[in-house]
Amino acid sequence: MAKSLIGGLLANDFNVHDIIASDPNIEQRKSLSDELKIHTVATNNEVVEIANVVILAVKPQVMKQVVSELADAIKQKDKLIISIAAGIRLESLESWLQSREAIVRVMPNTPALIQAGIAGMYASAKTNDEQKRLAKYIMSSVGSAVWLKDEKQIDSVTALSGSGPAYFFYFMEAMENAALELGLSSEIARKLTLETALGAAKMAVSSTQTPAELRQNVTSPGGTTEQAITIFQNEKLDEIVKQAMQAAKQRSIELSEEAGS
Ligand SMILES: NC(=O)c1ccc[n+]([C@@H]2O[C@H](COP(=O)([O-])OP(=O)(O)OC[C@H]3O[C@@H](n4cnc5c(N)ncnc54)[C@H](OP(=O)(O)O)[C@@H]3O)[C@@H](O)[C@H]2O)c1
Repeated sequence: MAKSLIGGLLANDFNVHDIIASDPNIEQRKSLSDELKIHTVATNNEVVEIANVVILAVKPQVMKQVVSELADAIKQKDKLIISIAAGIRLESLESWLQSREAIVRVMPNTPALIQAGIAGMYASAKTNDEQKRLAKYIMSSVGSAVWLKDEKQIDSVTALSGSGPAYFFYFMEAMENAALELGLSSEIARKLTLETALGAAKMAVSSTQTPAELRQNVTSPGGTTEQAITIFQNEKLDEIVKQAMQAAKQRSIELSEEAGS
């Protein structure tokens, strides 16, 4: 995720000399500096010393240790901290830092890897407008980003856009398998499924009409689409989606509680 962010920033005219990354693993450092030409260092403290924006992009399990080690260096200077770790609340970050800081908590998603991500962001009370602008600029380098009014909404964002790519992959998988049963070859079934998903997403994004209106436009009475949609409705697909997303949100809450304890 860090590598994608750096790639996105560089593609958006960020100066290569303004980015510094740390990783304890020499191979990772070498790969970052060879591929992206950025400066890399072995310890996180070296980054915090220099940077005015610090992006925390380690796995949630190691976040407590990483942040605790940075507490002194961060406290000394006014820095913007951006955390992209799933399930790590501001409250936990502040307690590990032993101070209230300008922190932006971000929930990105995997399409960020191809600069087509969407992130939900929430800023701590100490974050000023300029820092918020900068945080949004950074996250927009790998897609788009929206501000949330309440940190609790991050759990809903996790259930929607965080886990969402997998829901669409699952639906594509189901359509592809159904197409095989309908007599298409696997190659044709895959191509038609993927291009249909892409076309529908592009239409929905570029249209002024809602997805519900777009669906109604292509559902002629007595036609083929109506037959399929009627099955989805009779089988209560919307109810299944609702239950699935509620379960994802609940798991996000549980994981945040475990990570903070
Ligand atoms: N991937 C996603 O789709 C996604 C979506 C939402 C949120 N996130 C969040 O993004 C964060 C990163 O996820 P990821 O998938 O990019 O994980 P990742 O590939 O494991 O990247 C984490 C990087 O941190 C390095 N690292 C480990 N310990 C470190 C330390 N003490 N100091 C500095 N660097 C250290 C790791 O190095 P080694 O490989 O050498 O251990 C690795 O390069 C996670 O907190 C995750 O919750 C990811």
